[in-house]
Amino acid sequence: MKPGIQRLIDGLCAGEALDEAQLERLIADRDRDAAARLAEAAVAKRGAIYGNDVYTRGLIEVSNICKNDCLYCGIRRSNGNAQRYRLTPEQILRCAEEGHALGFRTFVLQGGEDPWFTDGRLCAIVSELKARFPDCAVTLSMGERSRDSYQRLFDAGADRYLLRHETADPAHYALLHPAEMSWDNRMRCLRDLREIGYQVGCGFMVGSPFQTPAHLAKDLAFIQAFKPDMCGIGPFIPHHDTPFRDRPAGTLELTLYLLSVIRLIHPPVLLPATTALGTIDPTGREKGMRAGANVVMPNLSPVGVRKQYELYDNKICTGEESAQCRGCLEARMRSIGYRLVIDRGDIKKYQQGE
Ligand code: 5AD
Ligand code: FES
Repeated sequence: MKPGIQRLIDGLCAGEALDEAQLERLIADRDRDAAARLAEAAVAKRGAIYGNDVYTRGLIEVSNICKNDCLYCGIRRSNGNAQRYRLTPEQILRCAEEGHALGFRTFVLQGGEDPWFTDGRLCAIVSELKARFPDCAVTLSMGERSRDSYQRLFDAGADRYLLRHETADPAHYALLHPAEMSWDNRMRCLRDLREIGYQVGCGFMVGSPFQTPAHLAKDLAFIQAFKPDMCGIGPFIPHHDTPFRDRPAGTLELTLYLLSVIRLIHPPVLLPATTALGTIDPTGREKGMRAGANVVMPNLSPVGVRKQYELYDNKICTGEESAQCRGCLEARMRSIGYRLVIDRGDIKKYQQGE
C-alpha cells in the first residue's frame, strides 16, 4: 500500500471527513491491499447498522420514451433504433400486485422523461399504489421535474425519489449531456426533493467518459456533504446506438472500491448493488454486498419489455428465464450468507461512533 493511504483509511473508519484532495489520493493511489481493508471496514460498518439484511426494491420500468438526449444512454431521444413502449397504469398496478405477493415492500417506478406521465396521471398511479399497498414505500425515478410537480407527487404519497446527479463537476456534466440540460437544474431538483421531504437518492456512473479521479473525488465530497438517503452507483457500460459506443466500460474493481468508500463516508446510506454491476461481472452484485452494499433492485417489469429498457448493452434479467429475479437474488444472496428481508427498508438513524 502506498504510504499515506493507510492513514486516510484509518481516518475514514474513525468517521473523519476527508477533503477533496485526500479523496482524490485515496482513488488515484489505490491498490489491492487498500481495497481489501476498505471492504472489510465497510462490511463491519454496514453490519453494525443493518446486520446482514439485504433490502429489496421491485423495479418497474414504466416507459423507455424519453425527451432527453444524454449521450451515454440507450433510450436517448436520438436513438431511432430503440423500440419504444409505455406501460399502462393497469400494467403498472399488476406488476406491483405480483411484487407484493413475492415479498416486495418498496416499488420503484423508473422511466425516461416521458411527457405522457403528467402530474395528474402519475399522481393517480402513486395514490392508487399507496391505497392498495399501505405497507409499501413508493419510490419515483422519473427524472427532472418542476418543484411543483415533485410537491404534488409527494402529496399523492410518493416516499422517495431517485435522481442520480451523474457527476458533481459541472464541466464534466456538460460533456455527458446536450447543451439544453444543466448541472444547475439537476442540483435544483435534488435540493427541492430534499426540502419537500422525500428520502432522496443521488448517484453516478463509474468510468463514464472523460471521468478522472478528481471528478470522482468531487462526487464523494458531494455525497459526504449532501448525505443522501440512497446512492446508486454502477459502471458505465457503452450502448451500441449512442455516441459513446466505443468507450470502455467502467471496471468492477473501481466500482467495488467506491462502494466501500461511500459506505464509510456516509455509513447509514442505502447502497444498491446495481444491475449494471451484475452486467459487467456474473457475480458483480454478490461482490457489491461484500464491498458494503445492502440493497438489490430485482426487475419486476413485464418480461416482454425488459429488453427494450436498454440503457446499455447486455443488460441482465431480460430473458424468459429471468421472470422471477427476486428468487434468483434470494438464492444468490443466501449463498454468500446474506438474507433478503421483507421490509420497506427505510434508512436507519445512526450516530457516528455507534
Ligand atoms: N451505462 C451505465 N449506466 C447508465 N445509465 C444510463 N446510461 C447508462 C449506461 N450506458 C444510468 C444513469 C441514469 C440511470 C437510470 O442509469 O446514471 O441515471
Ligand atoms: Fe434477474 Fe437473476 S436477478 S435473473
